[in-house]
Formats: sequence, structure tokens, C-alpha cells
Amino acid sequence: MSSTKNILVVGGAGYIGSHTTLALKEAGYTVVVYDNLSTGHRDACFGDVFVEGELKDRAKLAEVMEKHEIEGVVHFAALIEAGVSVVDPLSFYQNNVASTLALLEAMQDANVKRIVFSSTAAVYGDQTTSSPLSETLSKAPINPYGHSKAMVETILESAATAYGLQAFALRYFNAAGADPECRTGERHDPETHLIPLIIQTAQGVREHISVFGKDYETPDGTCIRDYIHVYDLAEGHVAALNFLQGQNTGCFHAANLGTGQGYSVLQVINAVAEISKKPVKIIEAERRPGDPAVLVADPSVANQLLNWRPMRSDLKSIVEDAWRFANA
Ligand SMILES: NC(=O)c1ccc[n+]([C@@H]2O[C@H](COP(=O)([O-])OP(=O)(O)OC[C@H]3O[C@@H](n4cnc5c(N)ncnc54)[C@H](O)[C@@H]3O)[C@@H](O)[C@H]2O)c1
Repeated sequence: MSSTKNILVVGGAGYIGSHTTLALKEAGYTVVVYDNLSTGHRDACFGDVFVEGELKDRAKLAEVMEKHEIEGVVHFAALIEAGVSVVDPLSFYQNNVASTLALLEAMQDANVKRIVFSSTAAVYGDQTTSSPLSETLSKAPINPYGHSKAMVETILESAATAYGLQAFALRYFNAAGADPECRTGERHDPETHLIPLIIQTAQGVREHISVFGKDYETPDGTCIRDYIHVYDLAEGHVAALNFLQGQNTGCFHAANLGTGQGYSVLQVINAVAEISKKPVKIIEAERRPGDPAVLVADPSVANQLLNWRPMRSDLKSIVEDAWRFANA
């Protein structure tokens, strides 16, 4: 068994990629960050080396992998807004699927066999009768974003069988929070994620936060989601890479990264108001189409296979870290 020391983090300038780079470095890996900076930030690149480049550039990726003797890839680079994917699906299939083929071909060129892939709970779609969501459910995405991630999972599975690739798809639930040491955090532009939007409201940057639907079948009528601290997500990638190292060639695994516990929109708003000690003005709005009442992970596969358990994903730690970063 060879040890994986040099890792290529594609999309490592982004929110989850920058935290994962820090976690990999703390675990003793050498990291090359590869990113086109389309949504990422140069000052969030913590790798030993930074290469500005496109995911679709097979030749450049292969050159980088060979030059730095890369032994494993963590792949975050993607367009991520499900709503945008409905109005502009081709850009999602181009960036998330076609460009990932170039990455996989470059891995073949450079004889790199291990990959950990950023997948998403969106591959399950709206299977609300099956909460918590387990990997035994079939994939049933309801938007092009979710389809693009499900397609890449299928491609990875085929490549594992055909070429001996070792692949792990991590299906994240709602990534939230920030590095407890404030070195990086959530900076999407435009921001669409709930916790940063509530924080911006508490800061006075936004006038109010819209609550889409207060008549769901949940205890307070608002949607329930499974929030996972980005630091716990980052550690999940380190665990997945370590796991692949002990596997035979030609394997594909998928695991949820979530806590198994959900919080409602109102609970999250109250937590931000309490921790920030600022008022958060709420506006009630209509339900959004495609928003299930409850989305919560069954994390038992990640618990068992990766020996991974979230350590910072209680709502208080998530909001405290996010609030500290937003005010740094
Ligand atoms: N944020 C979440 O809650 C969440 C939930 C589930 C899954 N995910 C997945 O996790 C991954 C990372 O999400 P994030 O929130 O960190 O997003 P992000 O936008 O902050 O990070 C994506 C990074 O990839 C880079 N990138 C995008 N397209 C590229 C290309 N063609 N070539 C090179 N670099 C490119 C961007 O510049 C950015 O640095 C994505 O694949 C996303 O689908 C995120």
C-alpha cells in the first residue's frame, strides 16, 4: 500500500475547499490547490502551491499532477446554485460534468488513482417520505445541479470498474460555519445560504430575512435542514482519502456527511439573534417550489466506513464560528 502524501485540491480556493486544504495540511499532507478563481478567493488558498487553471484543461491538470507527484485528488470545483441550474442547465452540465471528464482523463494520463468528490444531498431530490435520507435510496434529483452531481457519481463508478479508479463521493447536507481560527469562512457572491443571510440581516447589511413557508408539517411550521460544520466536512475528506488508501483498486463508495439532526429555519434565526445579540427582522413569504419540509441525513455509512463523526456541528458552534468570521 502506497501512502498518499501529495494531494491536488481542485476548487481549493472556495468555501469548503479552503477548509479542507487546512485540514489536509494539519493531517500532514502536501497540498497543491488548482482553481480558476471564478467564485473562489486567492487569499483563501492555503496549499503549499497554487496553480490558477481551468477544470477542463486536461493537459495542464496532467502536467500539474506529474510535476508535483500527486497521489490523490479532492474535487470541489463546480457551479453550485440549484436555482441558477434550472434557468441555465447547459453551463452546469458543461462545468460540473464535461469538465470533470477532463479531470478524470488527466488523472489517467498522470496515473493518479484516488479521488474524493463533492457530491450533495440534492442527488436524493424530494424523497420526503424517507427521512432520514440513506444511501440505499435511489438517486432522484429534481434540478440540473442535482443531476450533474448524480451523473458524476455514475461516471466515477464506471471508471472505478473499468480503470481501477478508487473513488469516494461525499454527499454533503447543508455546509455551514467557518474555521474556528477565522482563517477562512463562507464568502459566496451572491450569497444564497441561510446562515450567512441571517448574519447579514443581524449586521444590518440586509433589511430582513425571508422565511419561505410557515405552514410545513414541522413543529414550528418552517423547513428543517441538517447543518454540518464546514470543519467537520473538511475532516470527512481527510478520512475518505485515508480510507481509499487501504482499499483495493477499482472501488466506488458514497456516503452522506450530515449530523442526523435537523434545525428549523426559525431555530437558526433565533440562534443568530441570540449569539449576535442583534434583532433579526423576519418577513413571511410563500413556500418555494421544490423545498421539502425536512431534509436530514442518515450519517451511519460515514460513521462506520470512515470512522467519521461531526464534532462541531451543534447549532451554537456553527453560528458562533460563522458570526466571528463575518465580523473579522
Ligand atoms: N456549500 C454547500 O452547502 C454545498 C452542499 C453540497 C455540495 N456542495 C459542493 O461542494 C463543492 C464546493 O462548494 P463551495 O460551497 O465550497 O463552493 P465555492 O463556489 O465556494 O467553491 C467552488 C470552487 O471551485 C472553483 N471552480 C469552479 N469552477 C471551476 C472550474 N471550471 N475550474 C477551476 N476551478 C473552478 C471556484 O473558483 C471555487 O473556488 C461544490 O462542488 C458544491 O457543489 C456544497
